[in-house]
Amino acid sequence: MIVVTGATGNIGRCLVDRLLADGAAVRALTRDPARAALPAGAETVRADLTGAQDLAPLLAGADALFLNLAAGGGEAVTALVDAAVAAGVRRIVLNSSMAVTDTAADDSNHIARMHADAERRVRDSGLEWTFVRGSNYSTNTLAWAPSIRASGVVREAHPGAQGSPVHEADLADVAAVALLDRSGAHLGQAYRVTGPEVLTVAQQVAEIGRATGRPTQVEQISEEAAAEAMAGPHLPLEAARELVRLFGAMVHAPSFPVSDAVERVTGRPGRTYAEWARDHAADFS
Ligand SMILES: NC(=O)c1ccc[n+]([C@@H]2O[C@H](COP(=O)([O-])OP(=O)(O)OC[C@H]3O[C@@H](n4cnc5c(N)ncnc54)[C@H](OP(=O)(O)O)[C@@H]3O)[C@@H](O)[C@H]2O)c1
Repeated sequence: MIVVTGATGNIGRCLVDRLLADGAAVRALTRDPARAALPAGAETVRADLTGAQDLAPLLAGADALFLNLAAGGGEAVTALVDAAVAAGVRRIVLNSSMAVTDTAADDSNHIARMHADAERRVRDSGLEWTFVRGSNYSTNTLAWAPSIRASGVVREAHPGAQGSPVHEADLADVAAVALLDRSGAHLGQAYRVTGPEVLTVAQQVAEIGRATGRPTQVEQISEEAAAEAMAGPHLPLEAARELVRLFGAMVHAPSFPVSDAVERVTGRPGRTYAEWARDHAADFS
């Protein structure tokens, strides 16, 4: 039995499908089973990982756990890892981030610190582990959907910023291989998972236009306007400013080199951003 946290999320849905297709028994966790629309083959279980719920029944009988911090980071990670140990779970595959570098820099920013801390808690558990350290997710660009639908225009401070966006299905495939592995080859591995190519923001926007068949373009705005548009309840304005400055640095070089981890782990090349845009054309139409 494999327990999947964040099962209705971007990675979670792909992972549940993939594990079921491979014949695994899956327990899919969600705060709202009635709305989850998860496949009937999965055991869908109500779980609020940041609440006061008893975690033991969620993990009873499980061999492996997919841990996504989007479903509960910080103390929720400690509670879930402790509950996994107590339940006799053998293996944890943690959805981590390429921001973790195993250097002192991991303490220098919020995203790296949060994921490095979770990695430490998983390592310290004594269970088998694999870390999936993803680069920028292609799903981040769903944030452009409202303005593309409304006007065909994306407003960004740095249209030339480069990245190697990774498809959620590739993250799920890497996680599935690690969860199902019987060879031991993936234990103790921290995989840096990127998309297969470097693309600028403008090139990504153009791919969306090709996928939808509607002209789509980028309009450059000031860093301050971009930060204000990005800030919200979960992202304070100062953190948004930091992010926009970071994107500015990516005009000269992507933050992360392209990795071949998807192909090494799954045996197939990573999905391109063009493929992602075709898979999500309806979101932008
Ligand atoms: N974005 C990036 O570029 C990037 C890069 C590297 C790493 N990451 C990591 O990837 C994570 C995002 O993964 P994703 O895109 O697959 O996530 P996602 O689509 O945001 O899915 C998260 C799922 O977690 C569930 N959830 C939320 N709060 C919960 C709670 N209190 N208890 C239980 N479940 C809860 C929600 O399901 P229900 O509503 O059904 O409960 C939701 O569907 C980030 O948090 C970060 O750690 C992101």
